[in-house]
Amino acid sequence: MPERQIIKSMKRLALIIFISLFIASCYYDVEEELYPNGCGTGSITFTSTIVPVLKNNCYDCHSSSNVQGGVILEGYANVKTYVSNGKLLSSIKHDGNSFAMPQGEPKLSDCLINKIETWINNGAPNN
Ligand code: HEC
Repeated sequence: MPERQIIKSMKRLALIIFISLFIASCYYDVEEELYPNGCGTGSITFTSTIVPVLKNNCYDCHSSSNVQGGVILEGYANVKTYVSNGKLLSSIKHDGNSFAMPQGEPKLSDCLINKIETWINNGAPNN
């Protein structure tokens, strides 16, 4: 290969690496912003993981100040009721066994659903 061509292809390679790194770092930033604790399913607790998700997506219609469908999702005991009867998971997974939630809004991200499901599979601890 003539020298000029080698330099040209090396430049192209460098550009591709640069662009990939750039895209990867952007993607990482966005994910960190959306999910402060990442998408991992380690160190999930009721207080630090589950309550914020319910607060952001469900309290508008399921808190003591606005009780829709007779459902309150504030406080561990109330949430546990819907964990035990299977409706919490069923409603956010849209599996057809209960009303699809959050009502009238898009399904929660897989990331958040996984976290809630993991917490339930861990025995839904009050931690
Ligand atoms: C815009 C209002 C609204 C939001 C937001 C909302 N819900 Fe609901 N939810 C309702 C209403 C209304 C009902 C009563 C069922 C119906 O009439 O559709 C209900 C019922 C339920 C039920 C009982 C389902 C059953 O089959 O008995 C559960 C569990 C539930 N919601 C969980 C959630 C969760 C978890 C979120 C957040 C991810 C959420 N909801 C967000 C309005 C809402």
